[in-house]
Amino acid sequence: MTTPDISHITGDDYAFIYEPAEDSFLLLDAIESELKFLHELRCTDINPRASLVTKATGDKNGVNLQPVTTDLVSGLLPRLNGQVDVLVFNPPYVVTPSDEVSNGGIEASWAGGTNGREVIDRLLPFVPQLLSDSGVFYMVVIKENKPKDIQDILSKSGFHMTVVINRRSGPEFLSVLKFSRT
Ligand SMILES: C[S@@+](CC[C@H](N)C(=O)[O-])C[C@H]1O[C@@H](n2cnc3c(N)ncnc32)[C@H](O)[C@@H]1O
Repeated sequence: MTTPDISHITGDDYAFIYEPAEDSFLLLDAIESELKFLHELRCTDINPRASLVTKATGDKNGVNLQPVTTDLVSGLLPRLNGQVDVLVFNPPYVVTPSDEVSNGGIEASWAGGTNGREVIDRLLPFVPQLLSDSGVFYMVVIKENKPKDIQDILSKSGFHMTVVINRRSGPEFLSVLKFSRT
């Protein structure tokens, strides 16, 4: 996979949406190491401008993306129950006060609340519900998110965790976790 062309995204856009950073590129590296082909992608974001820019990035790079502006996966339920083969989440993972966890502005890009887990923990219950039998779930975390604790939560639903890739980026120790049914 070549690095996507994002030259169409302006400084004005970056006042409203997350500028791809080390975590974004780490996730791309992890997926590249795992998957040969991605023909069609639906992704979600709570920030409407992020959805618009994502669509434009797909168009610029010849990839059919169908962004859905919704809270986590709520706009996909129940239609896609048991039908998702690959679920990818680069969450707002930074440890912040709970009242900074936002509903769609630029702060939603990073503010994760207590342990950086408040948005992550809202998604976890939907993972077993959405994934197909052979479906896999990839997620970026930092060590403050307590990956072992996330592993324990999803193991109760029969998921096995592996670490696809680790990378230190300044003060952050980033990992991409992969969950699949045992
Ligand atoms: C770390 S940024 C990642 C952005 C981009 N996907 C990437 O990998 O570069 C986190 C993204 O999650 C979105 N987000 C935060 N809370 C959300 C929620 N409850 N539902 C859907 N998306 C959310 C933010 O708007 C932001 O675009």
